Amino acid sequence: MDGFYDMHCHLIPGVDDGSESIEESLEALRQEYEEGVRYVMCTPHIAPGETAAADCQRRQFELLQKAVSESGLAGSMKLYIGNEIYGAVPCVQPLKDGLIHTLAAGHYVLVEFSPAETFRHIERTFRSLLNSGYLPIAAHIERYECLRDKDALEALEELGVCFQVNTATVTGSPFLRETRWVRGLLREERIHFLGTDSHGTHYRPPRMREAAGWIEKHCGAEYAEKLLHKNPECVLRDELI
Ligand SMILES: [Fe+2]
Repeated sequence: MDGFYDMHCHLIPGVDDGSESIEESLEALRQEYEEGVRYVMCTPHIAPGETAAADCQRRQFELLQKAVSESGLAGSMKLYIGNEIYGAVPCVQPLKDGLIHTLAAGHYVLVEFSPAETFRHIERTFRSLLNSGYLPIAAHIERYECLRDKDALEALEELGVCFQVNTATVTGSPFLRETRWVRGLLREERIHFLGTDSHGTHYRPPRMREAAGWIEKHCGAEYAEKLLHKNPECVLRDELI
């Protein structure tokens, strides 16, 4: 099964700690293609308060799209722009002001925190986003210590927050605590999105096929279809999942 969606990666060149050049981005996108990915949500880091970053990211994104259209990938990959928002400071107003990209210009937003962030702050951030009409997705939830608490995770689910995990965590060693935890959540069908969180070819090159295979094998066809196809399609159509 191909036609996967990478919902989190840093492949816009020269805008964050991800890909450093158009050439590196094209090579990483070729790797995405080999991994069965056909839809790439580019989510460069952004911290609320960076007033010029979104415009610069948009310009670099357009350059990348042009390069893709002139490459061997023309017609086979679709690229979208979003952001991975650093949720340490309030982000609703910068979103309203157009200083941060929502995912594919819809209502979904991808938000990350420091791994040691308090649950109180994470919950307050998601609540304020939801109250303002945004649909938050927690980026790589395997990183946050406070969410290992069963009640904390359930509280976010009840609020309506979606969860993304990194493909490398799904396919990690079963001795890793993060991998065991994420696999448990996948078996319980509580994860909504997968992302490679690739930073280019130099750091965490994109890997999708093995994680997709693990999910198809261990989580059932119906949930695999949802996670790998239906949920990301909802983001692109800006519909509730
Ligand atoms: Fe990321």
